[in-house]
Amino acid sequence: MAFDPAYATIFPRTTTVEAGRMRIGELDAQELTREFGSPLYVFDETELRAGMREYRQAFESRHADTEVTYASKAYLSRFMAAVCREEGIGLDIVSGGELAVALAAGFPVEHCHFHGNNKGEEELREALAAGVGRIIVDNVHELELLDRVARAMGKVQPIILRLSPGVDAHTHAKTTTGTLDTKFGLPISTGHAAQAVADAQRMTGVDLVGLHCHLGSPLFDIEPYDEANAVMLSFAAEMVRANGLRLREYSPGGGFASQYVRERPAPDINVYAEAIISSFKRRCEENGLPLPHLFVEPGRSLVARACVALYTVGARKQIEGLRTWVSVDGGMADNIRPAIYDAKYEAVVVNRADDDPVETVTIAGKYCESGDILVKDARLPATSPGDVIAMPAAGAYAITMSSNYNMALRPAIVVVNDGKARLIRRRETYEDLLRTDVWAE
Ligand SMILES: Cc1ncc(COP(=O)(O)O)c(C=O)c1O
Repeated sequence: MAFDPAYATIFPRTTTVEAGRMRIGELDAQELTREFGSPLYVFDETELRAGMREYRQAFESRHADTEVTYASKAYLSRFMAAVCREEGIGLDIVSGGELAVALAAGFPVEHCHFHGNNKGEEELREALAAGVGRIIVDNVHELELLDRVARAMGKVQPIILRLSPGVDAHTHAKTTTGTLDTKFGLPISTGHAAQAVADAQRMTGVDLVGLHCHLGSPLFDIEPYDEANAVMLSFAAEMVRANGLRLREYSPGGGFASQYVRERPAPDINVYAEAIISSFKRRCEENGLPLPHLFVEPGRSLVARACVALYTVGARKQIEGLRTWVSVDGGMADNIRPAIYDAKYEAVVVNRADDDPVETVTIAGKYCESGDILVKDARLPATSPGDVIAMPAAGAYAITMSSNYNMALRPAIVVVNDGKARLIRRRETYEDLLRTDVWAE
């Protein structure tokens, strides 16, 4: 049987199967694990850059004054920041650590947006010293702290307030962020948002340039963006009248879905762009607002498809009439999403990619938790130890949530492009595990 064409929109677009062997970026996937070790995360540069260009085109063709700002929590490295810089994509960061990586990559810091619900005073100082373009202020404590820090440093920091519009985006409870009962943002319905606008307008260390919300992730439904735009832009108009706000910038956040499994395709980026921009224009007009600069913050959808995780098959356990377990050499330490969100992935055996599936197996990780399962009920051909399983759409929130649980060594990351592979992160070593252990007997 040939490689299922339904995988075409889940794997990177350069993926091919010839004589049953999968190639990514023109390189044999199993050979990559032999060269760089297993598990291995493989980023396809062609896919990554093409996705970024499609995003820019989709939004800028509908509203020229739009900036696509990549939510780097999904995956960040110097390579990633450099690609964003080259492709004209901004960077949304949420910590001093992400800022440090952006700076180390020579990313133009004026295109950085600093988010987070509890930024520390030191982090705010670092951001101001570096010249971060926008700080997205999440709450009153931060507003007051930032104003004080900025004045002490003799700066006026452009800020955007993150609001909580009270919109349910119909996603996993652990990834919904736009409702009233969330830790993120200043609620509009309680009056906290209006108070923060009024406070910010009086402060001399900050310049309030706009408003932001983020509803959650991943949003397969498009309607919540319009609901949020309606609430946010009507609130903005009220603040223009009541508090003299000049709404120069606006964002409905990110949260655009990616396709992980064949039965759940994600809407095309043009569908999101059309819905968001038309709603944004309509709601601005209804509220008598001139169109502000818009920024959108895709994380997952810019990076998920560009990366394939490769694991090598090891142990097998068959419980007749119940379940067959196939264990691989990675798991929840490099990708915790299935364990914490019940995230679903596809699995394809890269060295038998044309073989018919003959059994249903549960692909387990190697870590000491019963919940360390990567894919439940995968339909696979007969596998044996040494076979390599690809899990596509692994670019987002896997590496960046990885851990050293069980003193696991984080895997290497390679970038493939036009038949060449470049190591961008080496596999960790035991020395890395001990580097921060400063105990002295
Ligand atoms: C403020 C903000 N913007 C954007 C994103 C990106 O979401 P996604 O990766 O689903 O696009 C997040 C994710 O947590 C976020 O908190």
